[in-house]
Amino acid sequence: MGSIHLKQVTKDFGDVSVIKPIDLEIKDGEFIVFVGPSGCGKSTLLRMIAGLEDTTSGTIEIDGQDATTTPPAKRGLAMVFQSYALYPHMSVRNNIAFPLKRAKINDDIIEEKIASVAKTLNLTDYLDRKPGQLSGGQRQRVAIGRAIVRQPSAFLFDEPLSNLDASLRVNMRLEISELHKSLNTTMVYVTHDQVEAMTMADRIAVFNGGIIEQVGSPLELYNNPANRFVAGFIGSPKINFIDIEPSTIDGTCSLGIRPEHIEISTTGGQWAGKIGVIEHLGSETFLHVHVDGHDTFTVKTSGDCPFKYGDEIYLSPQKNKLLHFDATGKTLPNIA
Ligand SMILES: Nc1ncnc2c1ncn2[C@@H]1O[C@H](COP(=O)(O)OP(=O)(O)OP(=O)(O)O)[C@@H](O)[C@H]1O
Ligand SMILES: [Mg+2]
Repeated sequence: MGSIHLKQVTKDFGDVSVIKPIDLEIKDGEFIVFVGPSGCGKSTLLRMIAGLEDTTSGTIEIDGQDATTTPPAKRGLAMVFQSYALYPHMSVRNNIAFPLKRAKINDDIIEEKIASVAKTLNLTDYLDRKPGQLSGGQRQRVAIGRAIVRQPSAFLFDEPLSNLDASLRVNMRLEISELHKSLNTTMVYVTHDQVEAMTMADRIAVFNGGIIEQVGSPLELYNNPANRFVAGFIGSPKINFIDIEPSTIDGTCSLGIRPEHIEISTTGGQWAGKIGVIEHLGSETFLHVHVDGHDTFTVKTSGDCPFKYGDEIYLSPQKNKLLHFDATGKTLPNIA
């Protein structure tokens, strides 16, 4: 079991309020990702769930029990950090065994568990090495292994892949997703990388300045962002915003259109523009188009794009994909 229920949870550091009242129900077995810009309170809330940071007000329930003041070791949760936090003088075997030895588990059982975890994480050949003799990805797998052997009711990850290079990050992302599918254990995963959030999460909670702006599945957030902040945070390349004269009909003050929802024409369209930088990614192309009277638009098009720097083109949004925002940034129904 590993359900976590946050009720009106807050955190102040001195007179600075870092977590505003937050309500969130994390279901048993769910993979939930906390995403948001630097300093928005993701790590703080994760550490509060772990018990590493005390809670100023509100309640944290784990499996239906009030755990707000329960010491970290008694919460049945395992945390994995960006820095791995391995013991450098201990072998991989002893690093993984450490929590079990501390819990006075029988040596034979420890050996069995280490063998099984090492197999799952592809660490069998490295058990006698020290962390300093491993690559970053291997070290992170050891840190995850140390968390797995404890059979926690939930895993808490704080940016576990940030120290890895791009291709290793993609591999580890898949490995953690696989692990979630095979263990079926609740995972709470903090990242500032929206691609990680989109690809791994059952549900994403988008944080901003100590509040949660929206919680939903990756596609719910992509298709129906609650506001400009979520629309701007989810999706890559980023959505284009267009400020307009406030509508007297529904109060729309700005529009949002994703780069993949803009049509290009050489003969006519809603906006005339001139192509600036072109990014060729092979499978797709990103055009940065200077549009008369607006900011630069990003447009996503096919890999075999025929245009070049300086070409004059027209852009038109797919009308049913336009997002409408009011003066406060809240999303309005698209009545087009
Ligand atoms: N011990 C502390 N004392 C005072 N302020 C703190 C403390 N720890 C964190 N903060 C502040 O709380 C806010 C939230 O920090 P937190 O580490 O939770 O952000 P984050 O969302 O994890 O950011 P990042 O993506 O950079 O890791 C920040 O403004 C930070 O400066
Ligand atoms: Mg953090």
